[in-house]
Amino acid sequence: MNDTLLDRVADALRQAQRVTVLTGAGVSAASGVPTFRGPGGLWKSFRAEDLATPEAFARDPLLVWEWYDWRRQRLAHCQPNRAHVVLGSWGALFPHYRLLTQNVDGLHERAGFEPIRLHGSIWELSCWSRACGSGTWRNDQVPLAERPPRCPSCGGLARPGVVWFGEGLDPHDVAQATAATACQVFIAAGTSSLVYPAAGLVHDAHRRGAFTVEINPDETPASAIVDVRLQGGAETVLHDLDERLRG
Ligand code: OAD
Repeated sequence: MNDTLLDRVADALRQAQRVTVLTGAGVSAASGVPTFRGPGGLWKSFRAEDLATPEAFARDPLLVWEWYDWRRQRLAHCQPNRAHVVLGSWGALFPHYRLLTQNVDGLHERAGFEPIRLHGSIWELSCWSRACGSGTWRNDQVPLAERPPRCPSCGGLARPGVVWFGEGLDPHDVAQATAATACQVFIAAGTSSLVYPAAGLVHDAHRRGAFTVEINPDETPASAIVDVRLQGGAETVLHDLDERLRG
């Protein structure tokens, strides 16, 4: 890791009141959670785009639930890593701190900080029927007692409380995320920056004058526009950055 780059980011953070971090699957990689587009991202030869859609669920709800149940079972054995811990601790460091996540795994929450969950939570369920109006409910059963699980209100099919491809994000979350791009430092950590609208946030922050940073071992479409690329795993880069910030 380039010390000069780390120092530049630490300096920017030291002067900042408004700091926003967007996380993606890479932040949970060191916890043993496979990323979507990296090694281990396939399940039984399916890609996320094959299963995380309303059409896939309508066609084969059991298959989609098998995938989610498998992911929930894996997650039950995972612990937050240093990236989650550092990002959680920053809530006490910056007066206006926002943590936005595309991750549905609940690891930021388990590290003690409530992020804005742009893609929902794998630990929440909702009714597949829009007419039911049962809202979302928490379900921590691992493995699921009933597959596919049922809606406690109407007895119909329940679905994972996540945002699928082709679905809109919660407008309240989008409004909060957009407002959070009016910051002094914006960090995109562990995301391939391919899936919109989340991928657009770093561009918004850049346009609005934020100092932008990417933390990722690999190059992404965001790499070309950020002020600083910190190349490496989020768990080590954020640890090193945090030490400089507090040292
Ligand atoms: P991806 O799997 O697309 O990208 C993960 C990124 O993390 C890649 O750019 C990796 O290079 C990087 N990475 C891997 N290990 C890392 C580490 N230790 N530290 C930091 N970065 C690391 O995951 P997302 O960008 O989160 O949506 O994907 C976005 C959305 O697409 C997901 O929320 C999900 C997915 O399909 C839905 O399911 C709707």
